[in-house]
Amino acid sequence: MPSAVVLARERISVPPEVLPPSVDVKDWWVEKPEIGPWAKRFFKEYVGITDQDELAKHLCSIRELAWDVFHYRCIASLLFVNYNLSEAYGTEWYYDVLQRLKKGDKVLDVGCAFGQIARNFVFDGAPAENVWSMDLREAFWDLGYDMYKDRDTFKTPFFEGDISDHEFMKEYDGKFDFIHAASFFHIFNLESQYKVVQRMTKLLSSKPGSVIFGRQVGCSVPRHFSSHPIRLGKGLYMHSVQSFTDMFEDAAPGKWDIQAWLTTRNPRPESKEKGRPGRLRFIITRLESDEVDVTGGDGDVSNLEKQLEETVISDLGDNVGAAKTA
Ligand SMILES: C[S@@+](CC[C@H](N)C(=O)[O-])C[C@H]1O[C@@H](n2cnc3c(N)ncnc32)[C@H](O)[C@@H]1O
Repeated sequence: MPSAVVLARERISVPPEVLPPSVDVKDWWVEKPEIGPWAKRFFKEYVGITDQDELAKHLCSIRELAWDVFHYRCIASLLFVNYNLSEAYGTEWYYDVLQRLKKGDKVLDVGCAFGQIARNFVFDGAPAENVWSMDLREAFWDLGYDMYKDRDTFKTPFFEGDISDHEFMKEYDGKFDFIHAASFFHIFNLESQYKVVQRMTKLLSSKPGSVIFGRQVGCSVPRHFSSHPIRLGKGLYMHSVQSFTDMFEDAAPGKWDIQAWLTTRNPRPESKEKGRPGRLRFIITRLESDEVDVTGGDGDVSNLEKQLEETVISDLGDNVGAAKTA
């Protein structure tokens, strides 16, 4: 009898596609960022830049340096500038998160890059000591001090490392009431996304009411690209709402309320095979603690990984461990 993990993996397995062998990064490169009302206010009040031309120049000069660290589309397109939590998840829900942080709950932003989300929280009144961040590359975090001009004043905890490494931040397992991840899952193949979910649910508090939330590129049908023209040799997996839900339920022990939405900014015709790409946002709330430990109780994922290895998804085979080098 195949295990539930194997069944779910078969359900969300899709044939691999190939992205164009090269990408013209000029298509990603935004020469002058459009700065929305939230970002205008934030950069005026937090950073002290009021002139819009000066702000655009400032952002673009940091972007040049960040591009040298690693080529991510969200950096080339300056996507992080307008992303903010109250607009993305709703003022009411976000207000409750802030109240909980003020009372001592802790949040971890995974794949934080410059630390824009940490600043978003602190700007809105969350205590700095409750707002934690981590990234594979400290160089991005360091550029954040230049972008937000707060090297001497911004003191929130930051950790450099690989979230899929089960030893990384192990001493903080169960410490976080909220985990946020934006533009993150979609940079990995499915195999690596499983590992990320496993690690996140270990770092998350076992108390009901703890939350994992974020957003990423999604699609109305799941799509798996076997390699990426920029991140050479790495695959990526774009989830639909259903495949993301299946992956999470499958990878995470315990009971969860999984809310996920796919929104497209510009309605495009939906192709039957390729679906319609968009933004996938999710808020996943723990309903019951994970009393049954499917990992074998030693904090690693060896049992789960063993089951995954049994799954015949040969098209993903070359991408295992992508999280290490994404
Ligand atoms: C596409 S960027 C998104 C950055 C940011 N969250 C945002 O919304 O703008 C992905 C970020 O994840 C980081 N990253 C990649 N692989 C990682 C890993 N295995 N563990 C932790 N961070 C990782 C990258 O260094 C980068 O900062």
